[in-house]
Parts: sequence; C-alpha cells; structure tokens
Amino acid sequence: ASQSLPWGGSSACARCAGAFGFAWCLLPYELPGYASCAGRGITQLGPAIAPLPNSTLWLNASQNALQGLAPATFAHLPRLRELWLDRNRIRALETGAFQGLRELELLDLSQNQLAALGPTALAELTGLQVLLLGGNVLATLHPNALAAQPSLQELHLPNNQLSQLQEVAMATGKLANLSLLDLDSNRISAPCPGPGLISIGLELSLDENPLNISHLLGLPLPNLTALHWSSMRPALDSDLGLACQVLGSLLALTSLDIKHSKVPPSRLAQLGACTNLTWLDLSTTPLSRLQGGVFRAFPRLESLSLDKCKIQQLKQSAWGRVLPQLRVLILRRNHLTKLEDGVFRPLSALTHLDLSRNRLTYLYKGTFLGMASLRTLLLQGCQLAAVTRDTFVYARKVEALDLSDNNLQYIKASAFQSLLHLRTLLLSGNRILTLQKWAFKGLTSLRHLSLAQNGLYKLSQGSFLGLKALETLDLSRNRLLAYGKYDSPAPFASLPALRGLDLGSQEAQPPVRLPSKLFQGLGNLQELSLRDNPGGVFLNLSLAPLAGLLFLDLSDIYPSREGPFSLRPGLFQGLGNLRRLRLDGSSLRDLPGEVFSSLASLEWLSLRENGLRNVSRAPLAGLAALRFLDMAGNPLACSCENAWFQNWSAAEPGVQVALLGSYLCLGPGVSEGLFQAHDLSFCWADLGIVFFAGSFAAISLTLVGSLASAKLGWTLRYGFYLLRAWGRGRLRRDQRGYQYDAYVSCCAEDEAWVVHMLLAKLEEEGQPRFRLCFGPRDFAPGAYYLDNVQRGVSGSRKALCLLSARALESEWCSLEIHLACARAYYRGHDPLVVVFLEDIPNFR
Ligand SMILES: *[C@@H]1O[C@H](CO)[C@@H](O)[C@H](O)[C@H]1NC(C)=O
Ligand SMILES: *[C@@H]1O[C@H](CO)[C@@H](O)[C@H](O)[C@H]1NC(C)=O
Ligand SMILES: *[C@@H]1O[C@H](CO)[C@@H](O)[C@H](O)[C@H]1NC(C)=O
Ligand SMILES: *[C@@H]1O[C@H](CO)[C@@H](O)[C@H](O)[C@H]1NC(C)=O
Ligand SMILES: *[C@@H]1O[C@H](CO)[C@@H](O)[C@H](O)[C@H]1NC(C)=O
Ligand SMILES: *[C@@H]1O[C@H](CO)[C@@H](O)[C@H](O)[C@H]1NC(C)=O
Ligand SMILES: *[C@@H]1O[C@H](CO)[C@@H](O)[C@H](O)[C@H]1NC(C)=O
Ligand SMILES: *[C@@H]1O[C@H](CO)[C@@H](O)[C@H](O)[C@H]1NC(C)=O
Ligand SMILES: *[C@@H]1O[C@H](CO)[C@@H](O)[C@H](O)[C@H]1NC(C)=O
Repeated sequence: ASQSLPWGGSSACARCAGAFGFAWCLLPYELPGYASCAGRGITQLGPAIAPLPNSTLWLNASQNALQGLAPATFAHLPRLRELWLDRNRIRALETGAFQGLRELELLDLSQNQLAALGPTALAELTGLQVLLLGGNVLATLHPNALAAQPSLQELHLPNNQLSQLQEVAMATGKLANLSLLDLDSNRISAPCPGPGLISIGLELSLDENPLNISHLLGLPLPNLTALHWSSMRPALDSDLGLACQVLGSLLALTSLDIKHSKVPPSRLAQLGACTNLTWLDLSTTPLSRLQGGVFRAFPRLESLSLDKCKIQQLKQSAWGRVLPQLRVLILRRNHLTKLEDGVFRPLSALTHLDLSRNRLTYLYKGTFLGMASLRTLLLQGCQLAAVTRDTFVYARKVEALDLSDNNLQYIKASAFQSLLHLRTLLLSGNRILTLQKWAFKGLTSLRHLSLAQNGLYKLSQGSFLGLKALETLDLSRNRLLAYGKYDSPAPFASLPALRGLDLGSQEAQPPVRLPSKLFQGLGNLQELSLRDNPGGVFLNLSLAPLAGLLFLDLSDIYPSREGPFSLRPGLFQGLGNLRRLRLDGSSLRDLPGEVFSSLASLEWLSLRENGLRNVSRAPLAGLAALRFLDMAGNPLACSCENAWFQNWSAAEPGVQVALLGSYLCLGPGVSEGLFQAHDLSFCWADLGIVFFAGSFAAISLTLVGSLASAKLGWTLRYGFYLLRAWGRGRLRRDQRGYQYDAYVSCCAEDEAWVVHMLLAKLEEEGQPRFRLCFGPRDFAPGAYYLDNVQRGVSGSRKALCLLSARALESEWCSLEIHLACARAYYRGHDPLVVVFLEDIPNFR
C-alpha cells in the first residue's frame, strides 16, 4: 500500500534506497549541482529531497503542491545557494524550516499563499541577497522579518496586499545594500512619513498602487535612483506641477518609469526640466506625433522607451538638435508607416533601435542615415515585403538584425552585402520559398542565421555560399522533405564552421525524401535536431558524415506512410563522438540489441514517453560512457524481461536513471505499481531452479547409468534407443498431426483396470470421445518394445502415466513407466498427465 505515497521517498522499497535516480528529482547531467524537483505534485518536500547529494547548489521545487515546510527540511543540503519554491501552496513558514542554509543567496517564494512573514521565519538565512515574495497574500510585514538578512539586495513583493509603505520601510530600514524594492500592485495608499524611509537608497517600484503622488511630497528619499510608478495619480495629463515638485526633490533620481501616465507631448519639456533623467519609460502614453523638440529637455537621456504610444508620425525634429547620449530607443508597437530620411540622425550614439511591430512595409535607405553606431536593429513584425542590397547601407555596423515575422518572399543575391559585421540574422516567420544563389554574400561575420517557419522547399548547392563563419542555422518548420528523386544537393557543404543545425518540424507531404548527400561536409557539426519529423525520413538517411556530432535530437518522430518509426540497425553508425541522444516521444516499442553499439561516447540518453515495455541488457551493454538514462513515461512490464533492468538501474552507481523511483510497471493480473518495488526476484530464482534441475538430472543420469551398467547391462541398449527415438521424435513433432489423444502407460498389473474402466469410459462413453494408444492393443507386433513406446508417445497429444502401489513395487514395471513418462516429460509442452490409481504413501 505504501507504494502509492505521493512523495515516494520513504515507500517500503528497500531496493530503491541505493538508486541514483530518485522518484521526484532529477540531477540534469549537463548542470552539475542543480536538482530539479519541479512540477511533480510533491506535497512533502522532506522525503522527496532526502536522497539529494549534499553537494547540491541549486534546488528547483517550483510548481508542486507544498503547503508548508517541516523544520530542517534542507538541513542535509548545507551548500545550497539558490532555492525556488515558487508556485506552491505554502501558507506559512515554520520556524526552522530553513535551518542550515547559511549560504543561501536566493529564495523564491513567489506565488504561494503566505499571509504573513514573522520575525523568525527567515532567521537562518543570514546570507540571503535576493528574496522573491510576489504573488502571495501578505498584508503586513513584521518590522524584524528581515533583521537577519543584512546582505539583502533585492526584495520583490509585487502582487500582495501590503497597505503601509511605512511598514515596509521599517522592515528594510537597516538593509545597507538593498538596491531594489518592488512593491508593484499592492494596496499602498497613504504612507505615513517616518525615519525608516530615509535609507531607501535604491530602485523603488510602486506601479499599480492607489497612492497619490502628493503623499510623497516632502518625504525624505534623497538616495532614490530609480522610480517605477505607472498610472501615476493624479494622471499627468492635466497638471505636471505636483509631480514635478515631488520628482524635483528626488535629487538622485536618474531613472523614471511612468507607463500609462498620459503625459501629453506638449508637457514633456516640463518633465524634462524638473528632472535629470538618463532613463525614461513612457510606454503606452498616447503620443501620436513626435516633432518640434519634445525631447529637447532630456539632454542626458541614454535610454528611452516609447513602446505602444500610438505614434503615427516621427520627425527628426522631435529629438531637438541632438540627444548625444541616447543609446537605446524603443519604438515597438506604434503606428509608424514610414520613416523620413535621416530621422535618427541626431541620435549619433544610438546602438539599439527597436522598430518592431510597426507598419513599415518598405524601408528606404535614407532611414538609417547617420547611424554609424547602430549595433542592434529590430524590425520584427513590420510587414516588410522586401529588402534590397541598398536597404542597410547606412547601418553598416549592425551586428544583430531581426527581420522575423515580415512578408519577405525571397532573398535576392547579395541582399545583405553591406553588413560586414552582422553576427545574427533572423528571417524566421516570413514567406521565403527559395534562396537565390549567393543570397548571403558578404556576410562573412555571420554566426547565427534563422530561416525557421518559412516555405522553403528546396536548398541548392549555392544557397549558403560565403557564410564562412556561420555556426548555427535554424531551418525548422519549413518544407524541406519534398525533394525530387534526382535532387542531390549538398547545401551545407559550404559551411565549414557550422556547429548547430535545426531541421525539426518540417511540413511533410508524401513522398518524404531527403537528398542522400544532405549532410555532406558537416564533419564539424556538433548539434543536430531532426525532431518532429515523419519516421519515413530515417529509412534511407545516413548520419555517417556527421562524425563530430555531440548532440542528436530525434524526439517526437511520428509514423508516416512508410510505417512507424523504428530504430533500424546501423542508424547511428559513424556517430562515435555522440554524447547526448534524445529519442523522447517517438512511439518506440523496441530497442534492437545492436542499435546503440556504435555510440561509444554516449553519456546521456533520453527515451521518455515511448512505448517501451522492456529494457534488456543488449542495447545498453555497449554504452560504456553512459551516465544518464531517462526512461520515464514508458509502459514498462512487471515481467522477467525487465528483471535485469530493475537490478541494473538501481545497482549501477555510475548511471543516473532519471526519476527511476517514480516508474510504474504493468503486468498480467498486476495492477499498476512502482517498478522498483515490484518483486521480480522469482525471475532470478527460476534461473536457479533450472540450473539446479539441470545438474540434478545430470547427476541422476550418471548414477542410473552406472547402476544400470552394473546391474542391468541390457537396459543400456534400451536407453540408447530411447534417446535416439526421443531425438527423432523431437525433430518430427511439429510437422504432423497426432494419431492419438493420449498414450497410456501402465504396469501389467493394472492393465485390466485400463481395459475395463479407462478405455471403456474414454473411448466409448465419453463425450467427446478420445482415441488412446494402449500398448497391448496398439503396439506393432514384432517391433522393438521401446520403438513402440516411442512411436506411441510421439503420436499422442498427451501421455497418461498411471501409478499404483503395485507398479512401484515391481522394479521392471516401474522402469517401463519411467522411461515412457520421462520421454514425454522432456518433450516439453506439458503433455504429461499423471494419475494415481490409489493413495500412495509419501515415502515411496
Ligand atoms: C524550475 O523548473 C520549472 C519547471 O521545469 C521551470 O519552468 C523554471 O524555469 C525553473 N526555474 C528555474 C529558476 O530554473
Ligand atoms: C557530503 O557527503 C559525503 C558523503 O556522502 C561526506 O563525506 C561529506 O563530508 C559531506 N559533506 C558535507 C559538507 O556534509
Ligand atoms: C554590501 O556590499 C558591499 C559591496 O558589495 C560589501 O562589501 C558588503 O560586505 C555588503 N554588506 C553586507 C552587509 O553584506
Ligand atoms: C545617500 O547618499 C549619500 C551621498 O550619495 C551618502 O553619503 C549616504 O550615505 C546615502 N545614504 C544612504 C542611507 O545610503
Ligand atoms: C491627490 O492629492 C491631491 C492633493 O492632496 C488632491 O487634490 C487630489 O484630488 C488627489 N487625487 C487623487 C486621484 O486622489
Ligand atoms: C544632473 O546630473 C549630472 C550628473 O549626472 C550633474 O552633473 C548635473 O548637475 C545634474 N543636474 C541637475 C540639474 O541636477
Ligand atoms: C531507399 O533506398 C532504396 C535503394 O537504395 C530505394 O529503393 C528506396 O526507394 C529508398 N526508400 C526511400 C523511402 O527513399
Ligand atoms: C520486449 O518487448 C517487445 C514488445 O513488447 C518484444 O517484441 C521483445 O521481444 C521484448 N524484448 C525482450 C528482450 O524481451
Ligand atoms: C543485482 O546485481 C548485483 C550486482 O550484479 C548483485 O550483487 C545483486 O545480488 C543483484 N540483485 C538481485 C536482486 O539479483
């Protein structure tokens, strides 16, 4: 019954104790020190994390069903640095829950149901630097709640029910290093001024609180550097006077975020005059026209966000003469349809320009005039229909260009030829069908190229010419399985530096065909994804050119017209360097014995969510380097086929079998239970019995043999015939039907009973009627007796051995029965029926 405990750990499963794969946590092989126990429905953390190694540095237990934490839950993990307990149902923190976590730097308790934070709850966390408490129901904060956290730097309290700013100020008053206090979306209305607030020297976030700006008037906040206060009250559309009085008194203020505050463009100059800002966020402020020096009053501005401000028109004059320090300009989600030549020219220091999701159907080359400093240009979702070789001539230094989700239909030769410094180019989500030869000419610095989610159905030999530094190429979600019979391009052969290639999720229209030379020239490729493709792709695909491959993703392969996906022998031939192989969710039913034999370096194998019923030794035996195996979500059988896996998975100290303690197994007549707890020891015992029986039989034969040679020399001949006959019979058995239903073996003393009772009842009266082979009646006259026995037994479906006290007393008779019945017994298929004609005392 204890098998179904929701937190596994202490279930009555002795075998589980030594297992390196735990029930509820996994230790990702690629992130040493990290333990992931997230999203597993854990209700009691203690038992679930009990087996974790004491070297764990990061523990993720988010998205579980924790309601509390028992004292000393983490005492065995003294080196823990970051702990995520977000998205649980924790209502209260007991004293001592965090005992022993002196080195913890980050604690995430957001999205729980904490109503209060008492003075002792966090007392042990003396090294804490970041505390996340957002999304709880905290209404008050005890003045000493954070008394033990002198090093606290960030305190996140958004989405709670705090109403007293003063209370928060008291609790944080002595935190010399506090640099961020987030109180967004609370119920803070009127702060009572007090000494505590003086020390808030930091970034303060007061978004979405019912606080009137007049309440901050005269408050001592001399060291406040950044203020987030969206929806400032009263709204700034009428009068900026009050706000300016407050903001002007914040002498250290350099960053101001007043989203949703409705400052009219005509008042921006006033705001600029009363502040000294380097960072300004005016998102969602209605500013349809920007012109006439509206930003002239912000000469020190370094970053300006105008996200979603309904801007329709943007003129060069908006910037005043110059904004010489502006580096970042966000203009996403506006209504810009075209941009005048040189519109950003006064922004000579601009390095990051975000124009995403405007309605710029065409870009003139003059748009980017004077933008010699620009490094990042984001034009995602702008309905652009074309780029020409002139488009970016004035933005030559751009290193990252995002053109995703536009309407580009083709990439003409040399379209990006001026972008010699480009390192990242995103062209995903367009409608590109083909790439002209030399489409990317000149992009000699390009490292990352995405062409995902286009309509590409073909790549030619020249598609990627010139991309000599390209490291990653994303071609997922195209239609690259539709090559013709005679297409045999090797499109990637011109990419000597390519390390990562994504060919996942191709739209499949049968017949599925990939060119045989597709992977030619990719000897340096390290990562390849072919996930979410039809199984037919792999029938003829050769991965052998990918000798340097380290990671291969073949998950979510689905059945195609050619049949279900199966791991054909030789599929992984030549991948001797492969370290990680993912085969999740591909409906695999069987692992052929030899399939992984060429993967000598494989360390990580994931076979999650397949249809594997058994795991035998053969496929895993060759994986000498294996350290991590994930078999979760397979319908394992509680059968002897899995006895080896059950033992190996728990006993092998070098391999983590991920989440092993949570695997279930199913068996005939066995309801679902924990795989590790299921008793398969009888499988091993069975083997023992076979060996025992074997040796016993051998010894008996030897004994009987020597006895026979001493006492019954003549029976040796019978023995020989018996063996010969048995051998013949065995060979012939299956090819023909049976002449008799049963062979009757009995002692001469019992023949009368057979004739009068057995034959009469079974052959004449019974329904159905049986045909029996009875020696005195059916044996061929003149033939050797043992030949007759042999013929009779092999011609019968069953052998009926009749035993009586008399039979056992007569030595000769007993031997006769023995010979016939032993023969039948060894023929297998359970043909032997032994009938005791009377009670026979045990000692016989
Ligand atoms: C914790 O795990 C959850 C679920 O896998 C994941 O979504 C989250 O990003 C993780 N958190 C951290 C900080 O790694
Ligand atoms: C961690 O556990 C190992 C044995 O499992 C032990 O030798 C070592 O001292 C422990 N370290 C700490 C810090 O407790
Ligand atoms: C505050 O930060 C400084 C500089 O990072 C550091 O030297 C000091 O130890 C910190 N103070 C506390 C109490 O952690
Ligand atoms: C505020 O800033 C001033 C000067 O920058 C500094 O002397 C003072 O210690 C700061 N106060 C606090 C509480 O950090
Ligand atoms: C904010 O306070 C001022 C002065 O105390 C008052 O005139 C105004 O009505 C208040 N506005 C709101 C929205 O509470
Ligand atoms: C604005 O800040 C700069 C330094 O960042 C300083 O030199 C200047 O005096 C400040 N101006 C005002 C009006 O506070
Ligand atoms: C696989 O290759 C064989 C011959 O090499 C060919 O007959 C067969 O049609 C190919 N199958 C697919 C699906 O391309
Ligand atoms: C494992 O199961 C599959 C299908 O259930 C079966 O075909 C195969 O023979 C089994 N393998 C072993 C080693 O028992
Ligand atoms: C499992 O294997 C180990 C090592 O091969 C062996 O010592 C142990 O007895 C086995 N356990 C069972 C239940 O067979």
